Amino acid sequence: MILERNRGSQLALLLVVLLAAIAGQTEAQKSAKLTATGTSCASKLKCNTCIQVEGCVWCMQPDFKGQSRCYHNSSQLCPEAFLYNPESTVTILMDEQLTAAGSAASGYHYESSMSGSSSSSSSSSFSQSSQSSYSSSGSQHASGSSSSRIVQIQPQSLSLKLRVNEKHNLKVSYSQAVGYPVDLYYLMDLSKSMEDDKEKLSALGAQLSTAMKNITSNFRLGFGSFVDKVLMPYVSTIQKKLDHPCDNCKAPYGYHNHMPLNNNTESFSEEVKAAKVSGNLDAPEGGFDAIMQAIACRSEIGWRDSARRLLVFSTDAGFHYAGDGKLGGVIAPNDGECHLNNRGEYTHSIYQDYPSISQINQKVKDNAINIIFAVTANQLSVYEKLVQHIQGSSAAKLDSDSSNVVTLVKSEYAKISSSVEMKDNATGDVKITYFSSCLNGGPEMQTAKCENLTQDKLVTFTAQIQLLKCPEDPRDWRQTIHISPVGINEVMEIQLEMLCSCPCEKEGHSSYTVLADSCNKHGTSMCGICQCDDSHYGNKCECSASDINSKNANDASCRPDNTTLTDCSGRGNCVCGTCECHKRPNPQEEVSGKFCECDNFSCERNKNQLCSGKDHGICECGQCKCKQGWGGTNCACQESNHTCAPPGGGDLCSGHGTCECGVCKCNANEQGRFSGRFCEKCPTCSGKCQELKDCVQCQMYHTGVLKKEEDCATNCTAFVPVGVEKVEIDEHKDEQICTFFDEDDCKFMFKYSEVQGEGLKVHAQETKECPPKVFMLGIVLGVIAAIVLVGLAILLLWKLLTTIHDRREFARFEKERMNAKWDTGENPIYKQATSTFKNPMYAGK
Ligand SMILES: *[C@@H]1O[C@H](CO)[C@@H](O)[C@H](O)[C@H]1NC(C)=O
Ligand SMILES: *[C@@H]1O[C@H](CO)[C@@H](O)[C@H](O)[C@H]1NC(C)=O
Ligand SMILES: *[C@@H]1O[C@H](CO)[C@@H](O)[C@H](O)[C@H]1NC(C)=O
Ligand SMILES: *[C@@H]1O[C@H](CO)[C@@H](O)[C@H](O)[C@H]1NC(C)=O
Ligand SMILES: *[C@@H]1O[C@H](CO)[C@@H](O)[C@H](O)[C@H]1NC(C)=O
Ligand SMILES: *[C@@H]1O[C@H](CO)[C@@H](O)[C@H](O)[C@H]1NC(C)=O
Ligand SMILES: *[C@@H]1O[C@H](CO)[C@@H](O)[C@H](O)[C@H]1NC(C)=O
Ligand SMILES: *[C@@H]1O[C@H](CO)[C@@H](O)[C@H](O)[C@H]1NC(C)=O
Ligand SMILES: *[C@@H]1O[C@H](CO)[C@@H](O)[C@H](O)[C@H]1NC(C)=O
Repeated sequence: MILERNRGSQLALLLVVLLAAIAGQTEAQKSAKLTATGTSCASKLKCNTCIQVEGCVWCMQPDFKGQSRCYHNSSQLCPEAFLYNPESTVTILMDEQLTAAGSAASGYHYESSMSGSSSSSSSSSFSQSSQSSYSSSGSQHASGSSSSRIVQIQPQSLSLKLRVNEKHNLKVSYSQAVGYPVDLYYLMDLSKSMEDDKEKLSALGAQLSTAMKNITSNFRLGFGSFVDKVLMPYVSTIQKKLDHPCDNCKAPYGYHNHMPLNNNTESFSEEVKAAKVSGNLDAPEGGFDAIMQAIACRSEIGWRDSARRLLVFSTDAGFHYAGDGKLGGVIAPNDGECHLNNRGEYTHSIYQDYPSISQINQKVKDNAINIIFAVTANQLSVYEKLVQHIQGSSAAKLDSDSSNVVTLVKSEYAKISSSVEMKDNATGDVKITYFSSCLNGGPEMQTAKCENLTQDKLVTFTAQIQLLKCPEDPRDWRQTIHISPVGINEVMEIQLEMLCSCPCEKEGHSSYTVLADSCNKHGTSMCGICQCDDSHYGNKCECSASDINSKNANDASCRPDNTTLTDCSGRGNCVCGTCECHKRPNPQEEVSGKFCECDNFSCERNKNQLCSGKDHGICECGQCKCKQGWGGTNCACQESNHTCAPPGGGDLCSGHGTCECGVCKCNANEQGRFSGRFCEKCPTCSGKCQELKDCVQCQMYHTGVLKKEEDCATNCTAFVPVGVEKVEIDEHKDEQICTFFDEDDCKFMFKYSEVQGEGLKVHAQETKECPPKVFMLGIVLGVIAAIVLVGLAILLLWKLLTTIHDRREFARFEKERMNAKWDTGENPIYKQATSTFKNPMYAGK
């Protein structure tokens, strides 16, 4: 049950970690984007904000004539002496050569609080060999005590000055020294179920140390054990159980350091053998407490400064972690400090909660320790997840009786030592990306990890350092960043100085003058601009702000009315009550007006030319002012309308459209749309026919909409139609023929022609052609009669057929009656009611 809970909360933790990682990333990306696409140099009004934009330089020349003191480096506007263009530089402070292969194998002088003395013979032999190798390095630190160190990373220290957004590449070399010392601390769960494991480990102790000594002559081994907090519900607190939780068991305890790290491997087996198992109640154990102590107690455990540090954690159960202490009433969080008494026992087991995973991870990172979780098969999946959250750790399957412990440790060590992964503690705005070709040769690829290394191979990483933006707090502008291989206690130290401010903004610089004349003695001149005192403002501190009211009044006079709070339309500075409009980077563009409300670059464009080009108009205060002969909002319109007149004379656009910008825009009416350059064409229009139709109808036939005599007289005065028998067109005259059907479906035709001077002439048919009248009632009656007749005929036919059929049937019946042969007295289907049976055996007796 408890195990399940553990797994659930672990998953939740995993999720939280993941989300946090994603959030952090997007934040960084966002800020990167902001600075990358940030506003151009010209909008930066101060030196420090200027140089925070990539590629911008600042000119501090006193009488600078350019548009803006901050501009892109590409244009040469400023004398060299007044230009401030900081560049990223790197200075190597410490560059010791990597320890030559084999140098460490013979032994070395190590500083360890456990063993103060070391073999003097090996120490001196090392320093001799190292002296010769370092003499050529040329580093100022090459001599002295530092020369007795093993060096696996180069360079060791450098200082870097970096501008925002600039990428700087640093080379980092790493080579694993042959025979590098190894410290192995074996931390074992000694609950009852691990009894057989303990026996096995004690038996295999010698083998383990032999195997490791074969890898490095400089090997030390230590041993510690843990059970759990001595509190309900972790262990039973009944006195009898407390003393002897199980047969042949010792009282439970939190953590016990049995044997600090040392080179006496025989005592390891003895210590393991001597340690007694104990018993507890719940399945997860207090291993995290033990890990924390084993790491935090550096001197008590005896970790050496320069050694590969391995912590083998062997258990067959899960683990308690931060928060679980509440079950036993422990609420004080783990402080990550060492709390061992002089017998090597953890004293704060029942006062402090278990550490959290991230606390362990932090300790592991700080101390460069590789944890190897050697756990039984049923726990492996949990620990494999745990490994993802603890840097440099790994998990491997331990046999149920720990019989494979030697091969396990050997192979995990091989895995750890054959790869190198670069880590750093850069935060927030500093981004470090690693590239390496590892051992492949070839081009470098983005990776922080190289695998399949052997001891004397050299790998080179390129660390690309980028400053995304300047931190807000100037104290963060200097940082120390450590780059180190995971699990190795050596670092490359980068003393990073972010170039986020200008020296000319600080006292002592030649461009820094307090109460300068150029600032009317009311401010400090720095980097060529004035920083006015509190009672003055303006570019040259010429405005007095002593009277708050006058300042308000001044501000108000920089706004067109009291509906807005933006000074100078946001496009200028309010200086002593007048607007000083911003300069534009393009000299062709100008912001003007009392409130900077005007400009001569935002007018309507035509074909990408302001106001259709200089010939058509000029841009004044956002509006095109057109030249003579041009009109429209963008001056693209020709004002003269002679181009709309049809060549043969007549109305503009043939009277069927309007002349706009020298071009006819044709109308549409219900008959169709006019087209053509002068709106002279209308393919779908019926011409004059429709116009004339009504009058022809009323005058000729006295029908139609103008049927009434007076309507006809008033409306039809233009012509009097001439009656003709048949309307025919004379090909030689310009005549049009019109054909219509009136409301009675009668067809009538007329033709018209316009003869110059004589007006309209209309010839119409004298009589309409009407369709013959149809007698509707007759048709209807006829149809009804036909239907009735057909029905009658069908009825008669049916009657006839049935009568014939009946006759035939009757005749047949009669015939059969006549032919009947049987005796009419006896019914052929009659059967006697009695039956007679004869018994064949009956012989008539
Ligand atoms: C930027 O300015 C520096 C110093 O004047 C000059 O050396 C460098 O070539 C310039 N870069 C460009 C891209 O113009
Ligand atoms: C020590 O390592 C060598 C090869 O490096 C191997 O041949 C030898 O068997 C190893 N000895 C032991 C005791 O593991
Ligand atoms: C073990 O270390 C001690 C010093 O702590 C040293 O005197 C001794 O020679 C070492 N033994 C081996 C076998 O390296
Ligand atoms: C390391 O070596 C193993 C086996 O030789 C191979 O499978 C693996 O791909 C190698 N890894 C790299 C990164 O070269
Ligand atoms: C990186 O770690 C070193 C040593 O712990 C520390 O001095 C430095 O401030 C850390 N840097 C950052 C950016 O946290
Ligand atoms: C703006 O000014 C007008 C007249 O000058 C005044 O009536 C109005 O109250 C003012 N509005 C504000 C918000 O000050
Ligand atoms: C805008 O005004 C400036 C200054 O008067 C002038 O030099 C520039 O040619 C004008 N630009 C346009 C597009 O008219
Ligand atoms: C055409 O131009 C004449 C004078 O040039 C003007 O009186 C007339 O109104 C214009 N017609 C149209 C449709 O703009
Ligand atoms: C005929 O003319 C009269 C008067 O001019 C007018 O009111 C009426 O609408 C016209 N009828 C038609 C059908 O055009």
